[in-house]
Amino acid sequence: MADLRVLFTHEQIQRRVEELAAEVERDFAGRKIIFIGVLKGATIFLADLARRVRLDATFDFIGVSSYGKEKQTSGVVRLTKDVEQPLTACNVILVEDILDTGLTMTYLRKVLLAHQPSCLKIAALLDKACRRVLPIKADYVGFTIPDDFVVGYGMDYAERYRNLPEICVLPPEMI
Ligand code: IMP
Repeated sequence: MADLRVLFTHEQIQRRVEELAAEVERDFAGRKIIFIGVLKGATIFLADLARRVRLDATFDFIGVSSYGKEKQTSGVVRLTKDVEQPLTACNVILVEDILDTGLTMTYLRKVLLAHQPSCLKIAALLDKACRRVLPIKADYVGFTIPDDFVVGYGMDYAERYRNLPEICVLPPEMI
């Protein structure tokens, strides 16, 4: 799309997702997994990742309050949709689009740990490590990126651009 700089092409993303899926398969060999996607940004990543993991897997979604039209988080995370199944004694992989300040993941980790899963891992497609405020790390990271605002492959700005097949940087003048 005009004015957007491509950071990762569709092919680059697919190759990386394939590698992450191989890691997940190795780590969870012979076990069942529940992928939990964070709405809405992680849906496309979850769909691609889950289809490449050849294990007995199901998925569910969880919703949190979003940035809306704002570029910065409000610092307050609110649950807007809970998971629809018990996670007790399950192997859970929480799937997120971007790990930024870490507020959202820290909150969701606490919410999911309250279900007492036997294992909880975090998969983040993108990691803005330089922006971290809380000390949380993902177990599976697609790409570490600088402090740019990105859209595409599920990620939005004011709900737009989620359907782009590539990940692009949104220039500051478009925000
Ligand atoms: P955190 O709580 O600051 O880690 O924010 C994580 C959430 O902020 C992500 O799940 C995204 O929904 C959103 N976010 C952070 N950076 C970006 C970005 O560059 N583009 C789109 N959404 C973003």
